[in-house]
Amino acid sequence: MTAIFSPYTLKGVTLRNRIAVPPMCQYSAVNGYTTDWHEAHYAAIARGGAGLVIVEATGVSPEGRITPACTGLWEDGQIQGMARVAKAIKASGAVPGIQIGHAGRKASANRPWEGDDHIPSDQPNGWDTIAPSAIAFGGGLSKVPQAMTLDDIQRVKADFVAAAQRALTAGFEWLELHFAHGYLAQNFFSRVANQRTDAYGGDFVGRSRFLLETLQAVREVWPEHLPLTARFGVIEFDGHDEETLAESIELARQFKHAGLDMLNVSMGFSTQNANVPWGPGFMVPIAAKVGREAELAVATGWCLDNPLMAEKAVADKQIELVMIGRAHLVNPHYPMQIAQALGVEKPASVLPEQYAYWLSRYHGSGTGSSL
Ligand SMILES: Cc1cc2nc3c(=O)[nH]c(=O)nc-3n(C[C@H](O)[C@H](O)[C@H](O)COP(=O)(O)O)c2cc1C
Repeated sequence: MTAIFSPYTLKGVTLRNRIAVPPMCQYSAVNGYTTDWHEAHYAAIARGGAGLVIVEATGVSPEGRITPACTGLWEDGQIQGMARVAKAIKASGAVPGIQIGHAGRKASANRPWEGDDHIPSDQPNGWDTIAPSAIAFGGGLSKVPQAMTLDDIQRVKADFVAAAQRALTAGFEWLELHFAHGYLAQNFFSRVANQRTDAYGGDFVGRSRFLLETLQAVREVWPEHLPLTARFGVIEFDGHDEETLAESIELARQFKHAGLDMLNVSMGFSTQNANVPWGPGFMVPIAAKVGREAELAVATGWCLDNPLMAEKAVADKQIELVMIGRAHLVNPHYPMQIAQALGVEKPASVLPEQYAYWLSRYHGSGTGSSL
């Protein structure tokens, strides 16, 4: 038995294996509503055998979307399409998860393949952005956000809660709060992006407040028996890594006390000056350290699609789940490829019966009568 194909239980939810598909925006929604693309895409990926499929960053409000083509859960009408997606994932034996978030100062952007830069607010598809402080990210994302008022902060927290409730109604069983990648929550935590002088800025406690309060508010409505997780950038790779990581680990401990069940360990992406040490499995030791020191279940990904490396990370108990993204876009049946690479005795067991049956045919045994 391999570690990666062993089941994993968190709260009342059991995944059939340790392979998770991390959230990946499809930039294919209309006014925040899912389209046929989402249903087909997520159904195909879930059919491929992963234990958990997390639906893309979904805006808790219209201005919280990364692009105009991102999904949303800010109104009840959006539940129906998401329910179809959740049902399609579950029908293939994967657990349906979803990431909800607010893009903050990086919102109002063009799709990556259309420039990845800000859409000016005076264009029909663009809008004004908000953030902890009126500081632009820079580069193509140069729009200066409005510094959030205390009322804005309360509203966005309430938006997270309402979106979580809609996700539950839609049938999702695993919720991930997007606290990473230079979006709103990550920027509250950032020493650079957050220059507030009120209770939501300044020292560690102030910069952590928005994240903790949002988590606590969501935990109150998200059922105890279902996993509540967060993706959080624990490191910026900006030359202040020791300090940031120490603060992140302390916040992870506090997340745990506030009811978080797992941390999807990622990077901050709060600054353009990051020097990310890209390479196979480079986030694994960092995730393991966070998990160990915060005593919290952790998952991670980023260039972790090498089957032997992924298996070792789980077998060595460095991480509980392996997040494999782009490899699933290229081949939704990537788990089958992992099974073959690891010498799993019956790799076809990762496939649905409709496909698996045929792999053992046509080896001199004649044709079936029902073809
Ligand atoms: C098309 C695409 C969309 C993505 N969208 C999101 C997203 O919605 N939320 C998120 O946290 N990360 C997002 N990411 C990052 C992925 O979740 C993942 O961390 C990244 O692709 C690295 O993993 P990989 O090397 O296995 O692909 C996206 C990545 C891709 C390629």
